[in-house]
Parts: sequence; C-alpha cells; structure tokens
Amino acid sequence: MATTTIALFLFSIAFVSSISSSNAQPNKQIQSFFHLPVKIDRATHQYYTTTDIGTPESNYFDLVIHLGGQFLWFDCNTGYNSSTYHPIKCGTRKCKIAKGIGCVGCNGPLKPGCTNNTCGMSPYNPFNNFLVSGDLGEDRIGVFPTEGATVPLSAASVPHFLSVCVDSDRLSDNLLGRMAKNTKGIVGLARTQIALPTQLALTFKLPNRFALCLPSSTKNGFGDLFVGGGPYFLLPYTKDVSQLLVKVPLVINPVSTAPVFSDGEPSDEYFIDVKSIKIDGEVVNFNTSLLSIHKNGDGGTKLSTINRYTMLHTSIYKALVNDFVKKAAAKKIARVASVGRFGACFNSNTIARIITGPAVPNIDLVFLNERVHWRISGANSMVKVGKNVLCLAFVDGGENARTSIVIGGHQMENNLLEFDLASSKLGFTSSLLLHNTSCSHFRLV
Ligand SMILES: *[C@@H]1O[C@H](CO)[C@@H](O)[C@H](O)[C@H]1NC(C)=O
Ligand SMILES: *[C@@H]1O[C@H](CO)[C@@H](O)[C@H](O)[C@H]1NC(C)=O
Ligand SMILES: *[C@@H]1O[C@H](CO)[C@@H](O)[C@H](O)[C@H]1NC(C)=O
Ligand SMILES: *[C@@H]1O[C@H](CO)[C@@H](O)[C@H](O)[C@H]1NC(C)=O
Repeated sequence: MATTTIALFLFSIAFVSSISSSNAQPNKQIQSFFHLPVKIDRATHQYYTTTDIGTPESNYFDLVIHLGGQFLWFDCNTGYNSSTYHPIKCGTRKCKIAKGIGCVGCNGPLKPGCTNNTCGMSPYNPFNNFLVSGDLGEDRIGVFPTEGATVPLSAASVPHFLSVCVDSDRLSDNLLGRMAKNTKGIVGLARTQIALPTQLALTFKLPNRFALCLPSSTKNGFGDLFVGGGPYFLLPYTKDVSQLLVKVPLVINPVSTAPVFSDGEPSDEYFIDVKSIKIDGEVVNFNTSLLSIHKNGDGGTKLSTINRYTMLHTSIYKALVNDFVKKAAAKKIARVASVGRFGACFNSNTIARIITGPAVPNIDLVFLNERVHWRISGANSMVKVGKNVLCLAFVDGGENARTSIVIGGHQMENNLLEFDLASSKLGFTSSLLLHNTSCSHFRLV
C-alpha cells in the first residue's frame, strides 16, 4: 500500500478526469497514456527518471533519459535479485527483435547478469563513451497510467519488459562513469523495437507516440515523459497543450549513428530537416549543405538529451555568434569577455526580462515551409555563467562534427516535444513560458 501511494505520487496526474468531465464530451474517451517523472540532476544537468524494476516491487532505479538510446539498461549488480527476471536465450525471436549480438556466458554463480547462453547486447554510456557487454533479459517494470487513462490500473505493471542487465562487478567501475550521482543506467527512447515507448505501445496497443517535457529546475516539481499519446495538461495552462504543437517530419538518417551497428542500418536517432536559422527574422549566412544529411550519414540536425547545450558545426557556430552579437548590439546589450566554451557573453544588467526569459534576439530554426519555425527565446538561448553575465548557450562542435546541429537539453527545456513514430513527425510548442506554463509540476493524486 505504501509503495502504491509513493508511486502514484511520483507518476500520476491529478486533473485529467476533471477536465474531461468539464468538457462534457461523453463519447470522446480520453486516450490512455503513461507518465513518468523527469528530474534534473543539479551537478551534471542530466535528466533522469525513476521506475521500479523486478519483484519484489518498489525496487526503484534512477535512469538517465537518452533520446538516442536504443534500450533500457541498468546495473543489476546491487539491489536487484528479482524473482521475475528471465534471461533471453541467444537465437530467439526476442533476441532478434532486440538486435542482440552473439551469445554471452558467465563463470560466476548464477544471478541476473551472470547466466549462460544469453542474448548479448552492447549497452553504452555516452557520457564516458564506455561500451560494454550486457545481457538481454525480461522482467516487470512499474510504469503508471495517468489517472483517467483507459487502461486498467493493473496495467501499472508492465510484464516481460525487455531490458539489458549489466553486472558492474564483472567490469571496471567505468560503467556508470560521469553519470548523475545515484543513477544506475539509461532509459533509451530511440526508434527501436525495444525502446521504452515502443514496448509500452505494443504491449497496451497504444499509439506509438511519446512526449517529453524537460524541466529547467525541479523547484516546482518534475517534468514529464508521456507515453501513448495525449492529451497533455500542463497547469496552469488549462487547455490541452497538444493543440499548441507545430508538426514537422522526423527524417531518417540512412547511416546509423549508434556506437555499434551492422552495415546498411539506418540511424534510430531523431533527425529533423532544419532548412535555415534566423536571428530576429534575418537568415544566418552559412553553407546550408551542412543541413542536409549526406549519403555517408554526415550533416543534418538531431535532438539529444545527452548534450547539455546545442552543438553546432564550426562554420554554423561562428556565423550564429557573429550575427547574434550584432543583433544584440542593436538592442543596446553590452558584450563582455567570453567565458569558457561560450563565445558570446553579455552584461545581464543591459538585458531586459520578459515572459520568455532575457529579452535577447530570437533564434528560429526554420523548416521547409518558411512560416514554420521552432523559436528559441531567451530562457532557452542564454545561460547564466556568473554574476551579471549571460552567455549564448551554444557550443562549437568542431570542423569535423558528424551531425551539423545537435539540439541539446537546455534548448528543449520548457518546450513540449512530441515524437510520433507512426506518422514520423515531431511536434513542438516552442517555449511554454509564453503560455505562462512550464515543464515543472507537482502532480498529486
Ligand atoms: C535471491 O533470491 C533468491 C530467491 O528468489 C534467494 O534464494 C537467493 O538467496 C537470493 N540471492 C541473493 C544474493 O540475495
Ligand atoms: C556456464 O557454463 C560454464 C561452462 O559450462 C560453467 O562452468 C558455468 O558454471 C556456467 N555458469 C552458470 C552461471 O551457470
Ligand atoms: C558548401 O559545401 C559543400 C560541401 O562541402 C561544397 O560542395 C559546396 O561547394 C559549398 N558551397 C559553397 C557556396 O561554398
Ligand atoms: C500570462 O500572465 C501575464 C501576467 O501574469 C498576463 O498578462 C498574460 O495575459 C498571461 N498570458 C497568457 C497567455 O495567459
């Protein structure tokens, strides 16, 4: 009982049912969806969620959220001796679905992470670039339905969820290196058959869709990972936030960007087709061939929750900084010395504050239809780096950057992003601050 209460406190949403009744549309059932909290680690600025894995229940794991991660992996060395864990044998259908590599065995005493004839996987820690070998296994995980969802509450337990168990005892302690303190693994959201959203969608026959609302702080509660479709309610905004979504195609990079892959495998990360960048309405001048995805998989624009700040190919970075500084000067914003990786810093006393943060020039990512743009306003474009100093929160990815634009977490905070895998579309809201709301909420039952 106690664990149920904690779990509902963490995972549920309070007001969906009340809003549905006030809308008085009895025939229009609320679509079901699941909800996981999104927290931010202050020291590393990594985003993570919490879920329980295994039996007995209430064995909670903090897992870093990785949009480009291919599956859920966790350190099953400590605190995990689940009676419902089953290793997946090599050569099985589930091993194929998971794109398992080879067959792993173990000499130690039998336990999760040490079994024979087990489907091998390659979990990856993107923070220290550490690639290891792990075991594909299945177990129950707790993922809680939103109140008012059409799936029964018993669905709170997802049986036979495929994930990868890595016994850190058998490795050097690098496995969790540079990951947020207390996190024990990674939850991948990429376009694979065993990413968490797709497994939930298949198990519960939900639309294959998820939405991410990254918080900028957890002072006022957690952010959200919604799985299975909207509506999305983010108080105090009282309407369904999915009405604010602007949709653009998600494009497939024909060459994998994963650390391990077979020949001819496309990337399962999320790329979008940005056509140009504008600052206060004026096009930033650089060679736009960088924005196309080339035959070898180079170029293009992807989204990453692993990068804290958006990383740009050097020639885009230089042009952006140059134009931003000019537009800022026109607004009488005083430039100060650069700080660390940030090439454009300003005296914050010369910058007004508006509802979307510091009143700096707007940066727009522009799509094929020129009227469609993702607006990056002050709260997302600037970062405070010291007393009275605000810097443009973009970094130089180098001349040889493989992907020309990697949109980072800071630029996604307080924006709702919906990844619709069925129609292959990204929906974005731009800053929710404009609508007097954010991605930080206390959700109580
Ligand atoms: C794990 O659980 C089993 C029963 O499910 C028990 O027999 C075994 O001793 C436990 N092992 C450890 C290391 O706690
Ligand atoms: C795996 O197989 C090897 C070789 O047959 C054996 O020595 C070992 O004890 C087995 N490991 C487990 C965990 O059963
Ligand atoms: C842009 O870059 C591409 C590829 O590097 C090159 O072929 C092309 O000539 C460049 N265009 C201009 C205008 O510099
Ligand atoms: C947001 O709040 C401000 C003041 O608190 C108000 O003036 C404005 O109309 C609100 N905007 C929206 C879209 O609700």
